[in-house]
Amino acid sequence: MVTDTHSFARPHEARVTDLHLDLRVDFPRQRVLGRVTLTLERAAGSTSLVLDTRDLAVHRAADGDGHPLAFTSGPRDPILGSALDIALPSGVTSVLIDYETTTGAAALQWLAPRQTAGQQHPFLYSQGQAILTRTWIPTQDSPGIRQTYSARVTVPRELTAVMSAESLTPDGIESGDGRTFEFRMREAIPPYLIALAVGELGFAPLGPRSGVYAEPATLDAARAEFADVEQMIEAAERLLGPYQWGRYDVLVLPPSFPFGGMENPRVTFATPTILAGDRSLVSLIAHELAHSWSGNLVTNATWRDFWLNEGVTTYVESRIMEALYGPVHADMLQVLSRRELLDEIDRVGGPSSADTILHIDLDGRDPDEGATRIPYDKGAALMTLVEQQVGRARFDVYLRGYFERHAFQSIVTGTFIDDLRRHLLDERPGTEEMLRLHAWIFEPGLPGNAIAPHSTLLERVAADAQAFTAGVAASSLNAAAGWNTQEWLHFLTVLPATLTPPQLADLDATFNLSDRRNSEVLFAWLRIAIRHHYAPAMPAVERFLTTQGRRKFLRPLYEDLMASAWGSAAARRIYASARPTYHAVAVHTLDSIVV
Ligand code: BES
Ligand code: ZN
Repeated sequence: MVTDTHSFARPHEARVTDLHLDLRVDFPRQRVLGRVTLTLERAAGSTSLVLDTRDLAVHRAADGDGHPLAFTSGPRDPILGSALDIALPSGVTSVLIDYETTTGAAALQWLAPRQTAGQQHPFLYSQGQAILTRTWIPTQDSPGIRQTYSARVTVPRELTAVMSAESLTPDGIESGDGRTFEFRMREAIPPYLIALAVGELGFAPLGPRSGVYAEPATLDAARAEFADVEQMIEAAERLLGPYQWGRYDVLVLPPSFPFGGMENPRVTFATPTILAGDRSLVSLIAHELAHSWSGNLVTNATWRDFWLNEGVTTYVESRIMEALYGPVHADMLQVLSRRELLDEIDRVGGPSSADTILHIDLDGRDPDEGATRIPYDKGAALMTLVEQQVGRARFDVYLRGYFERHAFQSIVTGTFIDDLRRHLLDERPGTEEMLRLHAWIFEPGLPGNAIAPHSTLLERVAADAQAFTAGVAASSLNAAAGWNTQEWLHFLTVLPATLTPPQLADLDATFNLSDRRNSEVLFAWLRIAIRHHYAPAMPAVERFLTTQGRRKFLRPLYEDLMASAWGSAAARRIYASARPTYHAVAVHTLDSIVV
């Protein structure tokens, strides 16, 4: 029996199999309110249904015929919230709950019009992963408890609702107090994938089954940036088997979205910071698309198994990028991510830290703490090692089979290992020992047999970084001939921490680094600037921290600022003004950094 220590649910007694939402989105009061109807599967003799809630106001519970049911709310745990225990008379297999969200609902971000591109209308979006769905829907919020869902959502007339489900009413239906949109997800999904966004949204098709939603002011840029999406889907299908979710759309959110992307089924939610203008950051879309298999089709059953979602996805992301843009480009991405992994291992306490274990112990902690680069890049490195050990052709057959065998299931790490042995490793005795599979999954650090990625192009860039460090002028570097985004990122990350003020000024003036529009390049440059106390970049630092809310960018920049008296005063001042514009998950992280 799988136990999820991050859920109060007791699914072996009574399990939610479907939920229907009938909701109204109240922008003036910043609340979502209405009713959820849960369909249950009950074990003989069960007497109650236990749900997860956090910061929810539950008004009433009733059976399918409307007869009230007694319920109690358990003590509040700061991470998990409260168990909602509903008494179940025998024979009851459907439960209605009237409820509303509170201002504490961490899944929801309510944006004022000035936080949107169009500046005219408010915006709402939800972020369920890892355990935030319980802050806007009372249900069994565990990735091992898959549920189908349907919804009716009423929003202000001028706005459009989008959900991670098939839309039954693309233009909405006029209703007394606004417009109602209806949705249906026929496949059972983990509850962290239930998602809603409401705003002034336009739509542009990208391919026969793909398109992009964005605010009207952002739509053209988004359409151009994501022009390769259909090809990505085709590449993923060639590798993994048919795409199972019908449509694949991307929703570009306002800039406060705390993640790069979120793989909500049928509609990836994405940050606008990947709209670089040259498609150079689209590996993020390849990543979220890959989750349509690893994550959404085959799901981690508990957050301890998160690496199954992210590691396999990061490997598939790289294969999609290779298929579209060639191995030379994919190798650059691999080199960059290996560097990030090594830096992350240092950040979480070095190679003997328990937080570098793929099968990470998160008991008693917020599962969000497991969302480091380790499950992504160490997980992907394991997949690459297996691929190289058994050969790509055999590995690809295995991978496709893995998704077929576990489609629409939630699995734990042990199930993955059993499957790998049975369908791949056991055919050739000794393979598992050569891989050191146990060490990879259950021990800390990056095992010595990890394959080191190489990129000749990036080696050249590193040589330029060395030359610059040794005194060569910025204008004499090969960069003058036009590096791409990945070359810039490599150059900036391999520069030493000991540049002189004239060197920084030379770089900035020659390459306009403080004015870069590419968020990743700007971020890498601003980190260097902060570490060197390079004051001329401070206006750019402040602008970047106050115009986007992606945690991946915010955390290191605030940390770097807080590391010195020089930066900490600025960090506190900027954070005080920007904090209300950030999403709760970013605020949660930053509150312990900017003190
Ligand atoms: N599923 C994750 C986002 C996530 C992880 C949200 C854990 C909440 C908890 C998503 O697929 C992801 O990995 N996003 C990355 C981008 C990706 C290209 C590495 C991100 O947001 O930075
Ligand atoms: Zn991911």
